[in-house]
Amino acid sequence: MNEQPKPKKQIGAPMNRVDARQKVTGAATYSAEYQLPNMTYAVLVGSTVTKGRLTGIDTKAAERAPGVLAVITHLNAPKPPSPKPEGKDPSQPQTQGNPLQVFNDDKIRFNDQPIAVVVADSWERARYAAGLVQAQYAKEAHQTNLEANADKAFLPTAAKKNPKHPMNDYQRGQVDAYKTGAVKLESEYVIPTEVHHPMELQAITAHWEAPDRLTLYDKTQGTLATRRDFAKQWNLPEENVKVIATYVGGAFGNALHSWPHESAAILAAKVVNRPVKLMLTREQMFTMVGYRPYTWQKLGMSATPDGKITGITHESIGQTSTYEEFTEATLAQTRMMYQSPNVTTRYRLAALDIGSPIWMRGPGEATGAFALESAMDEMAYLLNLDPLEFRLRNYTDEDPEKNKPWSTKFLKECYKLGADRIGWSKRQLKPGSLRDGDWLIGYGMGVGTFGAHRGAATVGAQLLPNGTVLLQCATTDIGPGTGTAMTQIAADTLGISPDKIKFELGNSSFPKAVTQGGSSTVNSVGPATQEACLALKDKLRTLAGAAFSTAKAEDITFEGGQTVMRNDANGKLPLQIGLRNNPSVKVSYSDILRQNGQQNVSATVEAKPGGEGQKYSMYSFSVHFAEVRVHQLTGEVRVSKLVSCADAGTIVNEKTAGNQMKGGAVGGIGMALMEHARIDDRFGRYVTKDFADYHVPVHADSPAVEVAFVNQPDPHVNALGTKGIGEIAIIGVAPAIANAVFNATGKRIRELPITPDKLI
Ligand code: MOS
Repeated sequence: MNEQPKPKKQIGAPMNRVDARQKVTGAATYSAEYQLPNMTYAVLVGSTVTKGRLTGIDTKAAERAPGVLAVITHLNAPKPPSPKPEGKDPSQPQTQGNPLQVFNDDKIRFNDQPIAVVVADSWERARYAAGLVQAQYAKEAHQTNLEANADKAFLPTAAKKNPKHPMNDYQRGQVDAYKTGAVKLESEYVIPTEVHHPMELQAITAHWEAPDRLTLYDKTQGTLATRRDFAKQWNLPEENVKVIATYVGGAFGNALHSWPHESAAILAAKVVNRPVKLMLTREQMFTMVGYRPYTWQKLGMSATPDGKITGITHESIGQTSTYEEFTEATLAQTRMMYQSPNVTTRYRLAALDIGSPIWMRGPGEATGAFALESAMDEMAYLLNLDPLEFRLRNYTDEDPEKNKPWSTKFLKECYKLGADRIGWSKRQLKPGSLRDGDWLIGYGMGVGTFGAHRGAATVGAQLLPNGTVLLQCATTDIGPGTGTAMTQIAADTLGISPDKIKFELGNSSFPKAVTQGGSSTVNSVGPATQEACLALKDKLRTLAGAAFSTAKAEDITFEGGQTVMRNDANGKLPLQIGLRNNPSVKVSYSDILRQNGQQNVSATVEAKPGGEGQKYSMYSFSVHFAEVRVHQLTGEVRVSKLVSCADAGTIVNEKTAGNQMKGGAVGGIGMALMEHARIDDRFGRYVTKDFADYHVPVHADSPAVEVAFVNQPDPHVNALGTKGIGEIAIIGVAPAIANAVFNATGKRIRELPITPDKLI
C-alpha cells in the first residue's frame, strides 16, 4: 500500500496571495519607492497648447530656483544615439513600443505633451521650479473630435501593406447582406475615451550605473519589452539594460507601452549623472500614458422571423494620435461569435491631435461587444424573442470565421449558470414591466470572448539545500496574482507545500517571458513553471543514485527536505533493491547535493506553443447578467446584481480568478455608467482631470458580484488546461447593463456612459 498521504492539490484551491502580507503592510516596493544614493527628482512641464510649435522657452527662473540641477528642453537635450525617426514606421505593432522622442524638436502634437523636465534634489523643489518654466507657442488649428474627422478616417497602414493583416476589411458571404434581410436593424454606438487609472501612478527611477549600463525601476507590464525599447533608444546591448518591476499596482494595459515620461527620466539621469525618480501626477495620467480610444461604431443586422441571423455588418472608427497608429480588435467578436452566413467588418482610424491610445482591459473586444451585444438585444426585441433564446438559436459549434473546431467552448454552460443565478426567469420581455415604487427593474445580458493566447516563456527552478525551491521568470504581476498561481502549479508538480516555494518575477534579468497582457500569462508561464519543475525532478532523480534512475518522475516527490521515491505497490520499483516491504526510499537533498558536490540543483526550461493553433480555434468565453434599478424620476441607475460566468479552462486559483472577474465587472460598471474622459475641443484639453470629474465605480456603486466558472480544462491550449481570464472579465459587461436599462425603461442608450441625463 502507498503509505504516503497524497499531497493536497493546490491547483484550483482558493489560496491567499503569496505577496498579500507585503502588499497590505507596505513592505512591497513599487517603482516610485526605491531609494538610491544621490537620488534626484524630476517633474515634467507640459504644453498648454494642443498643436503648433514652441517659439521660445524661458528656463532661467527655474534654473536659478533652489536645489535645481537641470532644466532640459528641446534646446539643450542630448539626443539619444538611436532616436526612432518620427513617422518611420507608424504601423509597427504597438506592443513593440514606439516611445515618443521627448525634447527632440519644437513640435507640439498634443496638449500636455512634455516640453521640459526639471530635475532637483527634492520632488518639492522640482515641482516648484517646473512652475517657473515659461513657454511661447505658435499655435496651429487642432483636431480632437472624432466625429468631426470621421470623413478622414483611413484603413491602418499595416492593413494597407499586408492584405492578410486582421485590420483589413472582412467579408464572409454576401457584402452588407443585412440590408435585404427580413427583419433588420441599423444602429450607431459610441464609446467615449476611458482612462485606465490604476491606483499606482506611472513612475520610473532611472539609474545609469555606468555610461553604457542602465537600470530602470519602472512600472511596466513587460520588463523585457521595456528593456528592448530603451536599449534600442540608447543603442545599447539589451543585457546592459536592466528593468525591475517587482510590484505593479494595477495597470489595465497602460503599462504595455513605453511612454514619454520614461524617455524623459532616462535622459534626465544621463544629464545629471545621478539616479532620477519621476512619478506622474493623476492629472498627467489622463494625457500621456494611453487610454481606451473614443470609438464610433455602426452595426447592421438582419434575421429571419424565427430568429436566425442572416447578416451582420459592423464598422468602426477608432481614434489614434498623429504620430502612432494604434489598432485594436474591435470587430473580432462579431466575426466569430454567432452563426451568420454573411458578415462584413470594416475598421478605420481617425488621427487626432492627442496622445496615443493603448489597450485598456478587454481592449477593442470590450468596445466592439458593446455594439454587437446591444444589437443582439435590439434584434431579440424586434423578433419578440428572449435575448438568451436568440443567442442560443445562433450558437456556433465551430468557429465560423476560421472554419475550425473550438479547442473547447462551454458558453452554453455559462449561459445556464448565469441565467439561474440572476433569476432570468423573472425577466419580462416587455420593457418597464417590473417596478418597486419609483424604481424600474430590468435584466440584461452580454457575452464576451477573447483569444486564449499563449507565448513562449522560460522559468528557472532551483532546489536549495534547505529544501526550498526558488523559481524565477521575467514576467510581471500587475495584480492578478501571477506569483501565487505559479506557486500552486509548482507545488502540485513538485509535490511540496507552497510555503516551500518562492516565485520571483518582475526582473528583466530572470528567464524570458511574455509581457503580462492579453490574458496570456498563466497560459504561457504556467506550462513553463510546470516543465521547469518536472525537469528539476528529473535531475534530482538522476543525482539521487541508481535506485532512482529507473523510476518515473511522477513517482518522485520532495517531502521534508528529502527526495522520496514512492513504492506504491504498482511494481514500479526494481526488485533488486529489495524494497518490497518498504513504503519508499528517501534521500535527503543535502546528501544528494553533497554526494554530487553541488550547492543546488537547477533547471531552466522554455515552454512554447506547438501547432495547436493551426488545428483549433482557441478562445475563453464569458457571459454577464445584470439586474438594474432605474429611478423613474431622477434617471439614476443602480446595478443591483451582477453575475459573471466564465469558461476560462482550468481555474488555477478560485480566489484570485474570482477577484479578476469581479474587478472586470466593476470596470464594466464604470464603462456602462460613469467613465468619460471629456476633451473641450475648443482647447483640445481634457476637462476631466481628476476623480472628482472622471468617475469610477466605488463600493457603493458595485453590488456583490457573483462569479461562476465552468472550470473545464482545455486540453489544447496547454497541459494545464487554462485559457485566460483578464479580458473576458470585462468584455460584455457594459452591454449587459445597457440592455438591462432598456429592459427596465424602454430607453436604448447607444452612447456610453449611461448617465441620468440620457434617461430623463
Ligand atoms: Mo491588458 S489591456 O492586455 O493589460
